[in-house]
Amino acid sequence: MLFGTQTVNSKGHLEIGGCDTIELAERFGTPLYVMDEALIRQNCRDYISAFKSQYPNTTVTFAGKAFLTTAMCRILQQEGMSLDVASGGELHTAMMADFPVKNIYFHGNFKSDEELRMALETGVGRIVVDNIHELERLNAMALQMGKKADIMFRLTPGVDPHTHRMISTGQEDTKFGINIKNGDALNAVKRALECPGVTLRGIHCHVGSQLLDLESHIGAIPIMVGFAKQVFDETGTVIEEINTGGGLGIRYIDGQVPPTIETFAQTLVASFLSAVESFGLPNKPKLIQEPGRSIVGPAGITLYSVGTVKRVSIVEEPGYRTYVIVDGGLSDNPRPLMYEAVYDALVANKAGEKATETVTISGKHCETDTLITDAMIAPVQTGDTIAIQCTGAYNYAMASNYNRLRRSAVALVKDGSADVIVRRQTLEDLTACDVLPDRLA
Ligand code: LLP
Repeated sequence: MLFGTQTVNSKGHLEIGGCDTIELAERFGTPLYVMDEALIRQNCRDYISAFKSQYPNTTVTFAGKAFLTTAMCRILQQEGMSLDVASGGELHTAMMADFPVKNIYFHGNFKSDEELRMALETGVGRIVVDNIHELERLNAMALQMGKKADIMFRLTPGVDPHTHRMISTGQEDTKFGINIKNGDALNAVKRALECPGVTLRGIHCHVGSQLLDLESHIGAIPIMVGFAKQVFDETGTVIEEINTGGGLGIRYIDGQVPPTIETFAQTLVASFLSAVESFGLPNKPKLIQEPGRSIVGPAGITLYSVGTVKRVSIVEEPGYRTYVIVDGGLSDNPRPLMYEAVYDALVANKAGEKATETVTISGKHCETDTLITDAMIAPVQTGDTIAIQCTGAYNYAMASNYNRLRRSAVALVKDGSADVIVRRQTLEDLTACDVLPDRLA
């Protein structure tokens, strides 16, 4: 399946953003992340219009952890998106791009003193407080600095999503947030109301990621709205904002059928409004959405050069498996090894040919870093270019230098032009932080 602006050109090459992927690979080298700017922008617009047409008092904020660079910040700003950052490094990236600081939500389950100070000094829009200990630290620091922080609480609604256990966060047994059901969340709110260094604006939850059904979102909404009502009844405080996180899944392979952004918005808003009504909330809170994967995932591909094509036969099973070894792997995409994530691929220079071969695409690391087991692709040989689809989310963002491979470049493509938005690391970059102490000189 082709995504966004992808087509097959007259040479039979995969094209994206009007650029021939084979020319991109030659020009920028491989492995190469390529991001389709038009599709990123379209997804931002789809989110904003789908939610705002249902409920104008919605803010859509991009979860920067999925893919964050200074150029991405500019695109988000131009599209009217807010930004969720989860570390001082992500905040720094946004600041370097002059992202409007009031539209930033600062997340994270352990913000260091340095990070809390950055959040207060820069004046981010909201600090999403994960626990009571953080509340006390933030309150003390704000008072010391003569500031008052607008906060939300990260809450645990106690719903168990259907997704890989490593990306489930809504259930009660989690390191994230404050439990609603056991009363901790109400105690945290009461404590916040006594803290002069903070103003409580809202509540937040995130139930999980790569969700292909909306059951856990729909389960969490009445719990969050019900909690807002409980806060009002017990303290008289009006919860102004309810953020239900991100989580909408995407189609990585055939058979995965995520809800559309439109259906997602309709379903969420309907269940939000019905909960607001049935609990008799005194206000209609702002609804905040925080998508990451569904904005950038389908907009990215990774281009690799094929090194060896190795046919492995086992004595009893001749022709057992064909390994297609590419020039990246675990360091540019750790998701298959971490979450058993699945992907689709095609031979970018043979994109018009029928997929007739079953191969296993593996990387070059000193690990069994299989990227795709049993991919159906066109007949492939050394020197071909493989494109793995839907690598726009949590690939560049989670890349490492394992085996001291250089981190790949990211090219942004649109209307036939391609720009590097992250340059490939050099060998010098790899040793730039190394220090040789005198005694080893
Ligand atoms: N908001 C919060 C507070 C989050 O923790 C996350 C993701 C999001 C929003 C965005 O969720 P999304 O729309 O992208 O599902 N590395 C994993 C995914 C980890 C997700 C962490 N939180 C992966 O590669 O699948």
